[in-house]
Amino acid sequence: SQSRLNTWHQAHELAAKYYHHMLMTADESKEARAYLRKRGFTKEMIDTFQVGYAPDSWEFLAPFLQKRGFDMDELEQSGLIGKRESDGQPFDRFRDRIMFPIWDRRGNIIAFGGRILSDGQPKYMNSPESEVFNKSDVLYFFHQARPAIRKRNEAVLFEGYVDVISAWRAGIDNGTAALGTALTPAHAKMIRRNADRVVLCYDADDAGMNAAYKNAETLQNAGLEVFIANLPEGYDPDDYIQTHGRERFVQDVIDGRLTWMNFLFFYYGKGRQLSAESDRLDYIDNMLKEIAKRKGAVEQDFYLRKLADEFSLSLESLKQEVRQMQKAGQ
Ligand code: UTP
Ligand code: MN
Ligand code: MN
Ligand code: MN
Ligand code: MN
Repeated sequence: SQSRLNTWHQAHELAAKYYHHMLMTADESKEARAYLRKRGFTKEMIDTFQVGYAPDSWEFLAPFLQKRGFDMDELEQSGLIGKRESDGQPFDRFRDRIMFPIWDRRGNIIAFGGRILSDGQPKYMNSPESEVFNKSDVLYFFHQARPAIRKRNEAVLFEGYVDVISAWRAGIDNGTAALGTALTPAHAKMIRRNADRVVLCYDADDAGMNAAYKNAETLQNAGLEVFIANLPEGYDPDDYIQTHGRERFVQDVIDGRLTWMNFLFFYYGKGRQLSAESDRLDYIDNMLKEIAKRKGAVEQDFYLRKLADEFSLSLESLKQEVRQMQKAGQ
């Protein structure tokens, strides 16, 4: 119901304020502030993303919200607080973590992601899914990024909170992220309603590449044109910015994006011995299948020529293969 929703939003809003205030002022937040400083967080970034700190205590937030009359059973479902089995006393679930509020598409805070300061596990603790917090239709910072996404006719999709925040400071104000889950058709639709294009800027490791490959299909099915950021192997976007700076990130990684087909040439070639016949035939077969999926004749021709050149094959035979694949697929 509406009042349940309001209560939920108010509690999360208050919690975010409390965590943020804690981070900025409290003595016990010294380490958290030092951690963020070390990672390059400026005051502007911390304010814009309402970053906070949940202190290392079992009873910081829970008594605060309880005193203000919030229903503790409700808040237990949100994962903000737990309840002691023995006597039902509420306690804090997020402790000693950097807190990132998560907004819904209207700008209400509905959940948190909490990062541990050390190398412990889990690195990120996120609010559990609930009636109010459905990861499959929430994109991090989307509410705030939406005007820029519309204006640029393009969204940049990252893997993590910190990537969105670092990139924002580099001027990429149209960045957003799915929360550690697969990108869903609902996410794709959210973006499609506001833009024609998406740049996938995932971590440049195997997991990130495979996620890009998989999620691109979801995005393309929603009618979006997909590009892949040009991030060198081993970096995530934030690592790259910390190492090479904000300007190079924008120029080389974002503006230097690959088209989807060029990404595929790279993706299918990765880890292969293209001088070996079976690998080479596999690669060509994969690429032909992808080219056959393309609708434009000019585009098909362009990539078929590229493939023909690369492997000294006759363009005619490649064209014939693609025609056969298309026929079989019909
Ligand atoms: P990464 O492991 O790439 O995190 O996970 P990161 O953003 O680079 O983290 P830093 O830079 O070490 O702080 C990407 C995203 O996956 C989700 C989070 O949303 C994270 O931002 N994730 C990751 C989790 O939900 N839980 C985890 O334990 C780890
Ligand atoms: Mn502030
Ligand atoms: Mn990753
Ligand atoms: Mn990462
Ligand atoms: Mn990172």
